[in-house]
Amino acid sequence: MCGIVGYAGRGCAAQELYSGLKKLEYRGYDSAGISTVCNGSLYTVKRSGRVEGLQSSLGCLAGSAGIGHTRWATHGEANDSNAHPHVCGRFALVHNGIIENYAELREELRAAGHTFLSQTDSEVIVRLIDSCYGGDILGAMRLACARLKGCWALAVLCAAFNGFAVARRGSPVIVGVGRDGCYAASDIYALAGRAHSYCVLGEGDMALVTAGGIQVFNGEGEEIFPPFERVTERFAEVGTDDCPHYMLKEIRENARTMRATCKKFLSSVDVCALSARLSSADKIVLVGCGTAYNAALAGARILGWACDCPVSACIAGEARYDPPSFTKNSVCIAVSQSGETADTLRAAEIARGAGACVIAVTNVGYSAVTRIAHTVLPVCAGAEVCVAATKSYIGQLVCLHLMAAGARIKERAECILKLADEVEKLASDGEYASTIAKLCARSRAVFFLGRGCDVEVAVEGSLKLKEVSYIFSDGYPAGELKHGTLALVDETVLSVVLVCDEGLADKCLNAVEQILSRRGRVAVITTLPRVAERLKGRVQAVWLLPPAPFHVACFLSATALQLIAYRTAVLLGRDPDKPRNLAKSVTVE
Ligand code: M6R
Repeated sequence: MCGIVGYAGRGCAAQELYSGLKKLEYRGYDSAGISTVCNGSLYTVKRSGRVEGLQSSLGCLAGSAGIGHTRWATHGEANDSNAHPHVCGRFALVHNGIIENYAELREELRAAGHTFLSQTDSEVIVRLIDSCYGGDILGAMRLACARLKGCWALAVLCAAFNGFAVARRGSPVIVGVGRDGCYAASDIYALAGRAHSYCVLGEGDMALVTAGGIQVFNGEGEEIFPPFERVTERFAEVGTDDCPHYMLKEIRENARTMRATCKKFLSSVDVCALSARLSSADKIVLVGCGTAYNAALAGARILGWACDCPVSACIAGEARYDPPSFTKNSVCIAVSQSGETADTLRAAEIARGAGACVIAVTNVGYSAVTRIAHTVLPVCAGAEVCVAATKSYIGQLVCLHLMAAGARIKERAECILKLADEVEKLASDGEYASTIAKLCARSRAVFFLGRGCDVEVAVEGSLKLKEVSYIFSDGYPAGELKHGTLALVDETVLSVVLVCDEGLADKCLNAVEQILSRRGRVAVITTLPRVAERLKGRVQAVWLLPPAPFHVACFLSATALQLIAYRTAVLLGRDPDKPRNLAKSVTVE
């Protein structure tokens, strides 16, 4: 959700910033821009489209300090004038976040004689800073920020200063020190290979960054000295290996994620304390957005079996305005790959404010959600670059399954580890996924159906397909079809039916018959040989997965659906790593 970078050092700022922006592009790819400062002048290049579009103009950007931005449009369409940096007087600014009172501020600034050059909310910030400036950059930023409502991560360049300043509230900023200079970025991966140590700025903090070092200040303007951590290998630059896209590479890392997450859980989580907390809870509420919410849905089912209290899943964006009535005995489980999703953070804060115990399930150990949570359950998926979440979802499922296992945790972990070998083989499948992808690509709409534990997987499979292929899709319980949606079924619609629970298989097959009788097309994914046998030749495709207990078959079926979504996107010529209109890590509301 917009990426910002800053650099001040001995190298060429334009090159440093360009390479940082390339790594942050997954956060938004509507437009990109860079400003540098050299001998008291600002230089700016910005345009709509991807970061690569800046490459030919890097030579115009003199200097060894600057800031850069890659945008996910919120206010104003994706064009050149709405691209960041925004410039006013001596200042250039890049922003990640949303300014909610920008309309009032814009009117006030217009009345004071400012002419706006963009439709963005961000432009008001640079104009406010310029109007507040009296020789002290941080002072001007502090005065300007005091007028803002919303959330922001800012990097600001001033013609009078050979460095840059950063500020944050609600959106992340990491600062780092390297051999050739000092850096700032929205995430640590942009600093990997360049900075040797880093620090995550605290809420409300600001920093002044020059080639010589980084000074950090708290919201009151007092200098503070937060600890810097070493940038370790796990943040190293990730490539696509031999895969054509990150999405495929990351699906192929599902098995590794299952093993690593199990290992970390068993070695680092105080299982007794966790079980005690869950068993004394008066209610357990899981919150998340998108794929993380779909993992929360699955978690609610399995925790519901294991715990005596009511367990539910809530979309975090809804929970923040209509929060469940938490007490000090309640548990809120915040599920988030990035740990920076604004809605999830707010829902977790509300739960914590009400005295509930907050447990974070996250892939990013230094993220904001870890600072809200009492307990962190690490997902060990490694960097997930593709905007569509795949391996992180699998890792979230591992954490939730282990959490729900209670005293049988060793047994559950063994079962998951055994399945990881099957997931590994499955992820290299080309045949079945391609057959079903061809059916999807020819369909007007695709429904994903299942019963019991297959329902949540179907819902996630549907989200995956729609986000990377742009085909309309929906996922829900197979038994619901006849209550309305069956009206949509005809020969242009495909239904992908998951059948992994022997106890519910015949009920699911009823739905298949209902679809076939309306000339609908069906693809079945099952772990049950007798189901595959019965449907072979009657439906368009049958994918028989390895056998698995129904409650953990999700690791196999989810992997299969991820592969189908990926293959469909590729068949339709979409970029699965950067789907249109989307960005990873949604740090605005
Ligand atoms: O970083 P988070 O897990 O909190 O992100 C939540 C959603 O924005 C995310 O899962 C989104 O739905 C993905 N694009 C799904 O593939």
